[in-house]
Amino acid sequence: MSTIQDKVVIVMGASSGIGEATTKKLAQEGAKLVIAARREDRLKALVESLPNADISYAVADVTNKDEVQAIVDLAVEKYGHVDVLFNNAGIMPQGPLSEKRIDEWQQTLDINIMGVLNGIAAVLPIMKKQQSGQIVTTASEAGHVVFPGGAVYCGTKFAVRAIMEGLRQEERENNIRSTLISPGTVDTELHLTINDPERREWTENLQRAIGLQSSDVADAVAYAISTPETVNVSEIIILPTKKGF
Ligand SMILES: NC(=O)c1ccc[n+]([C@@H]2O[C@H](COP(=O)([O-])OP(=O)(O)OC[C@H]3O[C@@H](n4cnc5c(N)ncnc54)[C@H](OP(=O)(O)O)[C@@H]3O)[C@@H](O)[C@H]2O)c1
Repeated sequence: MSTIQDKVVIVMGASSGIGEATTKKLAQEGAKLVIAARREDRLKALVESLPNADISYAVADVTNKDEVQAIVDLAVEKYGHVDVLFNNAGIMPQGPLSEKRIDEWQQTLDINIMGVLNGIAAVLPIMKKQQSGQIVTTASEAGHVVFPGGAVYCGTKFAVRAIMEGLRQEERENNIRSTLISPGTVDTELHLTINDPERREWTENLQRAIGLQSSDVADAVAYAISTPETVNVSEIIILPTKKGF
């Protein structure tokens, strides 16, 4: 039987939205948490809001493999092992390919794909040694369908879906579980990563109007983590009732 109580969980991208809600949910359930993101003030405030939790934070940019490794090392130093890595950091710039937003494309690939790979690379050695562990990654509905203006973002989420399935097949013999969380629209700050003002406003309105709450997605993450070690919840697709695909 696998439960959340006392599990050592690392949350990357914990400073807002889904990562923040998942941190709160897992803290409530008695997990031991190490959380990271770039905005230190937000991480600090989150930790301070959970005075009864076993939780620490450190700043890390997921595009920097050494900073990601330092987060995993911090968890190992503190607790001796890692049960779960939640690769949740992501951005969602938008625009048709014809706009040639090449710097944005690079940043989206670096964060949404390399950030996930940096997490996997950092944590796999310890999980293989343990012969146990779970890597959970936030993909998206956009990992299943493509929409105009979202080609690059969708491409990163399709890539992450392939990577996580490859991980599942490669590491199942080592008792390492691979879980993809694929939400539809969620009411978070993600629209702030859209540089074009009109598209940003349109997306914010959609998020506010019909989006899931971050806590809905946190509940899905908690479920996947809580299942027995013999169960690999390989993907959860969670959509707002009024929209999706
Ligand atoms: N909201 C939606 O509709 C939706 C739907 C499907 C999937 N998702 C996915 O859900 C995940 C979380 O997004 P959210 O909706 O919760 O939005 P959010 O509130 O903007 O949260 C994004 C998180 O990622 C972190 N992050 C971004 N770039 C980072 C970097 N280079 N290094 C470390 N952390 C970084 C941010 O922290 P810092 O800025 O402090 O670094 C923040 O904690 C993303 O992967 C997103 O693609 C969202």
